[in-house]
Amino acid sequence: MNTKTTVISQAELDAQFACCDKIAAYWQTKGRTPTAYVETYGCQQNEADSEKLRGFLAQCGYAIVGSAEGADVVIMNTCAIREHAEQRVFGNLGALTHTKRRHPEQKIFLCGCMAGETKVSDRVKHSYPHVDGVFSTHHLWQFPQILWNVLSGKKRQFFIEDEPGSIAEGIPQVRDSKLKAWVSIMYGCNNFCTYCVVPYVRGRERSRRPEDIVAEARELVAAGCKDITLLGQNVNSYGKDLGLGVDFADLIRMINDIPGEFLIRFMTSHPKDATEKLFKTMAECEKCAHQLHLPVQSGNDRVLKAMNRNYTAEKYLAQVKLARSYMPDLVITTDIIVGFPGETDEEFEDTIKLCDEVRYDAMFTFIYSKRVGTPAASMPDAATREDKQRRFDRLLEAANRVSAEKHAEYIGKTVRVLVDGETGKDEYNLSSRTNGGRLVHLAGDKSLIGQFIDVKITSGNTWALYGKVGE
Ligand code: 5AD
Ligand code: SF4
Repeated sequence: MNTKTTVISQAELDAQFACCDKIAAYWQTKGRTPTAYVETYGCQQNEADSEKLRGFLAQCGYAIVGSAEGADVVIMNTCAIREHAEQRVFGNLGALTHTKRRHPEQKIFLCGCMAGETKVSDRVKHSYPHVDGVFSTHHLWQFPQILWNVLSGKKRQFFIEDEPGSIAEGIPQVRDSKLKAWVSIMYGCNNFCTYCVVPYVRGRERSRRPEDIVAEARELVAAGCKDITLLGQNVNSYGKDLGLGVDFADLIRMINDIPGEFLIRFMTSHPKDATEKLFKTMAECEKCAHQLHLPVQSGNDRVLKAMNRNYTAEKYLAQVKLARSYMPDLVITTDIIVGFPGETDEEFEDTIKLCDEVRYDAMFTFIYSKRVGTPAASMPDAATREDKQRRFDRLLEAANRVSAEKHAEYIGKTVRVLVDGETGKDEYNLSSRTNGGRLVHLAGDKSLIGQFIDVKITSGNTWALYGKVGE
C-alpha cells in the first residue's frame, strides 16, 4: 500500500462544502430546521471525529440534539477495540428501527472504527436495511457528499474502501467544550500490536503538518481554551512520515510558545518510542502538563514479545525512572490487558509486580478481547474466563488501592487546578483538574469556571480529590 501522506485538496473540500449548501437549501424548501444526533463510542479520537461530524452537520443547517428520537440524522460513531463495544453498537443500531418507524424521514449512518471492518459493513448491508450509509474513518471528510447522496434519493451509501493515508484540513468543528479541546495531530498506527484492530481500521500512521496544528492551537487559545490535549495512537512517532525534521518534542515546544495561560496534554505514548528529549521538553515547557499515559499492557517479557510491543519490563521501568528524574511530580497512567492468549498465572504476577513498582496514579484495565484478523486471535489460549476474571479483579483491587494511597498523599497540600465545570451536586458543586489531570471536586462560585486557582486538598478516595478554594 502507498504510505505517502496526502492532504485532501482545497478543491475536493470545496466540493464537500458545496454539498453542505445543497443540503441547507433542501431543508429551506421544507421550511424547518433539521436535527441531528451523533452518538460516540470509544476513545478521544472518536470524540474528536464526532466534533467534525457535528461541524459538517451545523454547516448543513442541522441543529444538534441529544437523542435519536425524532432526529433527522443519526450517526453512530463506533469503536472496534473490544467485542463488547461492538455488540453494544449492534444492539443500539437495531433499536433505531423503532425511531425510524416513528420518523420515516430519519437517515441513519454508521461510521468510526467498526465501519473499517468488512465483516461489519457486510452485516449492516444484509441485516440492517434501515441503515442508510456506512463510512470508515478514511471517508469522514466526505460525509456531506454521503448525506447529500442519501437525501437526493440515491441508494444506500457504503464508503468503506481502504485509502492510503490522507489528511483533511479545514473541516469545521463543533466542540463539546470551550475550555478543553482535543486536537488530533496524527492518524492511524503502524505498530500492529498482535491483539489490536486499530492499524487495520484506521490505516497507517500519518501526521498533520506542524503549522496546521499550531494554527489550530493558536485559534483555540484565542477563543479561551485553557486545556489542549494532543491526540494520536502513538504521539511519539509524530512527524516521522513528514520528513520535516520536526518531532513530537519540537511540536510541544512550538505550542508552548503560543502566548497565553493554558495547558498542553497528550496521549498516547508508546513506551518503545518515548525519548529522553520528550521528558526534558516536558520538564522545560511551563505549559506542558506533567502527565504521561504510558500503556505497559503487561509486565512479563514473554507476553510483551507475543504482543509485539518491542520493549521489556526492565526497559519500561527504566523509562519511568528517567521520566520521573526530570519531573518528580509526574502523574503516570497506563493501560493493561489481562488474559492475553497464553498468559499464565505466573506471568500475570509479573504485571502485578511491575504495577507495584511503578505505582500508577490510575490504571485502565481490560480483559483481552479476541479481534478477528489480528495475529493474537489464532494464538492458543488455555486460561478460562474465570481465570481471567480472577486476575482482573486482583489487578483492579491493586489499582484502586494505589490510586487511593496516591490521592491520600495530596491531603493538606495546595495544588493549582483548572476549574472546568459543575458537578450537579450541592456540597462539592465544581469540578476541576490538577496539572497532572487528577480530578478535584470543590465548593465555590461558578464564576470560577475557566480559571486556574490554588486549592487546598482536604480529602480523597480512589476516584477523586476534594478541596477548598483560597487556602
Ligand atoms: N482486548 C482488550 N484490550 C485491548 N486494547 C486494545 N486492543 C484490545 C483487545 N483486543 C486495550 C489496550 C489499549 C487500549 C486503548 O485498549 O490496552 O492500550
Ligand atoms: Fe493498537 Fe498497539 Fe497501535 Fe496502540 S500502538 S493503537 S495498542 S496497535
